[in-house]
Amino acid sequence: MPAPPAATPPAATPPPGALLTDLVARLSTVSAIEWIAETGSTNADLLAAGVPVGQVLLTDSQTAGRGRRGRVWHAPAGTSLMGSVLLRPTLAPASWGVLPLVAGTAVVQACRALLPGVDPARLSLKWPNDLLIDGVKAAGILVEAASGTAVVGIGINVDWRGVERRDGVRATSLAEAAGEGVDRWLLLDHLLTSLDAHVRHAEGDPGGVVQRYVGDCGTIGGQVIAHGTTAVQGTAVGLTPDGHLRIRADDGRTHTVTAGDVEHLR
Ligand code: BTN
Repeated sequence: MPAPPAATPPAATPPPGALLTDLVARLSTVSAIEWIAETGSTNADLLAAGVPVGQVLLTDSQTAGRGRRGRVWHAPAGTSLMGSVLLRPTLAPASWGVLPLVAGTAVVQACRALLPGVDPARLSLKWPNDLLIDGVKAAGILVEAASGTAVVGIGINVDWRGVERRDGVRATSLAEAAGEGVDRWLLLDHLLTSLDAHVRHAEGDPGGVVQRYVGDCGTIGGQVIAHGTTAVQGTAVGLTPDGHLRIRADDGRTHTVTAGDVEHLR
């Protein structure tokens, strides 16, 4: 029997205009939403001078997608929801470090809301803000700050069924968790609504961000290894008020990890 044809990504279709009009009218953190079929990086585009606060840029395909820690973010065209929003949060400078956690909470809650048939416990965050489904990455977030503004870039794997993973990368998608296709524009609705609510909540109560985040974070309480200048292995015991990860190492000493990646150990 011949092999089935490779899954073809759906044609790039822009979001419905009525949805965009509704989101702009409803959400105070969103002033305009633009969709383009392809760009280099939506984060880079919004970091350019002259972009108004509240601008959202969505795309179907990026040729130079940026990941955290200088990595490349790759997603085949038509498989993902990718975009960025330019925010000017009314947060004290000392609280800006929690924005990646705010965005992570918004993403995991939006994805759970989109997938009512999926056990919410299957979706969690790996510190600081990778969305995992059953322990496998399904979305990433890159927050980049410049001149009193923050660009929050989000890439969510919507439907990667039939997509070949590059170089042994482990990745899953919302459709694979649901066992069926999902509506990417309904996801956009949930995502921007959730981000708006969580940013406003953070502005009103910056001290509560970490408390709201920990319930969705699967890292806390687990065995981890943090990769930084020196690797730290132990139990993730909690977060500092700034959102930094506290790890109690196997020798009993507690380390604070301010940035980087952690690996969940079984
Ligand atoms: C990561 O997990 O490393 C973060 C990935 C962030 C990817 C998104 S896709 C939309 C936005 N534009 C970019 O260039 N990167 C972010």
